[in-house]
Amino acid sequence: MAIHEAITRRDFMNGVGMGTAALLAGVPQTQAAPGMQGASDAFEPDLALELIARPRNASLRPGRTTSVWSYQSRMLKGDPTSVQALPDSYLGPILRLRRGQKVRIDFINRLDQPSTVHWHGLHVPDTMDGHPRFAIGPGERYRYEFEVRNRAGTYWYHPHPHGHTGEQVYFGLAGLLLVSDGEEQTLPLPRGQYDVPIVIQDRSFDDDNQFRYLGDTGPTARGNASGAPSAPGNAMGGRGMMGGMMSRGAMMSGGMGGMMARMMGFLGDTILVNGRPDASIEVATHPYRLRILNGSNSRIYKLAWQDGRPLTVIGTDGGLLERPVHKDYVMLAPAERVELWADFSKDDLGTQLTLMSLAFEGSMGGMMGMMDGGPMAAMMDNSSLAAGAQFPIFKVNVARKTNAKLELPNRLSAISWPRLQDAVNRAKPRTFRITMAQMQWGFNGRSFEMMAVAPNEVVKLGTTEVWEFANDSGMMTMAHPIHVHDQQFQVLERRHGAASGGVRDGYVDQGWKDTVLVMPGDRVKLLMRFADYPGLYLYHCHMLEHEDLGLMRNYRIET
Ligand code: C2O
Ligand code: CU
Repeated sequence: MAIHEAITRRDFMNGVGMGTAALLAGVPQTQAAPGMQGASDAFEPDLALELIARPRNASLRPGRTTSVWSYQSRMLKGDPTSVQALPDSYLGPILRLRRGQKVRIDFINRLDQPSTVHWHGLHVPDTMDGHPRFAIGPGERYRYEFEVRNRAGTYWYHPHPHGHTGEQVYFGLAGLLLVSDGEEQTLPLPRGQYDVPIVIQDRSFDDDNQFRYLGDTGPTARGNASGAPSAPGNAMGGRGMMGGMMSRGAMMSGGMGGMMARMMGFLGDTILVNGRPDASIEVATHPYRLRILNGSNSRIYKLAWQDGRPLTVIGTDGGLLERPVHKDYVMLAPAERVELWADFSKDDLGTQLTLMSLAFEGSMGGMMGMMDGGPMAAMMDNSSLAAGAQFPIFKVNVARKTNAKLELPNRLSAISWPRLQDAVNRAKPRTFRITMAQMQWGFNGRSFEMMAVAPNEVVKLGTTEVWEFANDSGMMTMAHPIHVHDQQFQVLERRHGAASGGVRDGYVDQGWKDTVLVMPGDRVKLLMRFADYPGLYLYHCHMLEHEDLGLMRNYRIET
């Protein structure tokens, strides 16, 4: 802790990247943490930048601008093309990093609530991982320093403060982080204009073009400056379950409806791609690399081309597959990524294609038999675009002819998987049961506590383990995308419950994953190796309302 503080203070004195006003206004400090590491005097960054989270207005629809929170960056050192701002979007800049690169990112919080930045999918020391225990307050800064150790792939970054991750992501804080490496560079993959990032999110707008989320939240919230608009980990925002149920006023977004939306996950009724509604892209008759991130808070997509052509998948969360896989549809849960090889070279000019989300069932599971119709279901339906509805995501217009050719490679990458026989617990996998008790989601009955680690949440550095996530118990089940920090894991096995019929051909388990969709009734076994860094990391559901409600726990990697 001392090291980190000292460094922050030293640069503060040097005034790195800070104007006089900022020097006077913000006392830079990071929170004390046991075992602080990573940031050290020896760290010589190849790339240094500031990343500022702040309110601003974005012109997303005709008429009034939308108040959003947005990441904005300023290069301090390194190749300026490493950072690519997205015009007309609230999304943060695309960070383009190389494996082996040393990166320093000074995060500056200009929100009116605490925040951190999590580098989703990256393998970094625990002090650099954006854990909520390192949240910094308004006006403060936190120095993230890490070496990029991941394979080439499509990763992303977003806030991770306790109880407000859903709110901060929803109002705009998220960005892509693309890693390249030597192996990927030598492959004949679509590059430049043919390499297209696609961030899919769902939002709801009010009549005034403002984002509508739960209760009094976001940049224009009245309650924000004075503190938390919704008590973290408390479904009723402090009102209590019965109080909320009884009060008619509380049936509105802040009360029972809001509580149910938190419990079930918030669904917007408008699909945005890279922050734009009604998205379309003009393409040439050429193969494209579409890097798709589901950046939604809670919506699951069943991706398919509307004309029935198969999806050619070349990558997942942790980079390129060993070889391409063809799918009729791909399930993409919050935080998951999939990379498609989309070849339009045989399409006629003028062809219009739509990437759809197809209808599917079962993600809402069941709750005491009350989910099908009735007042309870109506209350939970916080969106006119229900979970599992069919809708278009974006359009592709084949608008240009090119003679340039590119063939889909048969081999994309080499993956050295961990070996099951090396797993120390292969005979008895560590099981995490997703539970719901007293209107609280949990793993094995436990909800998030900032520093707590249960006995079954301690692993040993340098070992390989099988983790099993079981979503088949309790009186309420629904789909949960499970994310484990610091890891890319292998999906070893899925045991399907009855609910997952229309989705089960849509999993891409052939590549590295950091987030895995566990449908109601399902059990999923993961193989992972705890390498390089000891410390306290998170595992959680990536439906952000579930995460904020406590469906998140620490695990500790011990030496
Ligand atoms: Cu993308 Cu812990 O999250
Ligand atoms: Cu969940």
